[in-house]
Amino acid sequence: MNKSSPDNSSENSAENSAENSSGCHNFRLGHVAIAVPAMKQAIERWQSVLNLAPSKQQNLPEHGVRVAFFDLENTRIELLEPLGENSPLLSFLAKNPLGAIHHICIEAQNLDTLHSRLVEQKVQLASKNKAIGAHGNPVFFLHPKALDGTMVEFEGVEKKVEKIDG
Ligand code: CO
Repeated sequence: MNKSSPDNSSENSAENSAENSSGCHNFRLGHVAIAVPAMKQAIERWQSVLNLAPSKQQNLPEHGVRVAFFDLENTRIELLEPLGENSPLLSFLAKNPLGAIHHICIEAQNLDTLHSRLVEQKVQLASKNKAIGAHGNPVFFLHPKALDGTMVEFEGVEKKVEKIDG
């Protein structure tokens, strides 16, 4: 580190601006989603490695996927299997036959505000409209081109209200 570096204060200001820009959304990592060619075998592998029971499997026909979750202490692993012949996962798995990380999900409060801002900034979305995700919350996806080859899902969550008094 160069002592004469002129931007001594940049660390603080970067920290502050990051805090400010995410302040109204309270971003948290919701899950890491992994596309798998065969759900049953994938669940067996993850269950055996983690020694954890999976959630119930769920079909999301509007997304063309079947999902199952493993709850970790601070996030979830979502396994995704193609559902139906138009599943968007089919081309992804054709390129990644072993399976691969498909997207990460960032939970956000005030999802509508976030969505409007990103549309305004002309950030490339994977689809124009919001949909309902596996947890019954509204979600939308950014195209992998928008963020360094990584698909990002934003999931709207309600603000957690702290109980002040019993
Ligand atoms: Co997801």
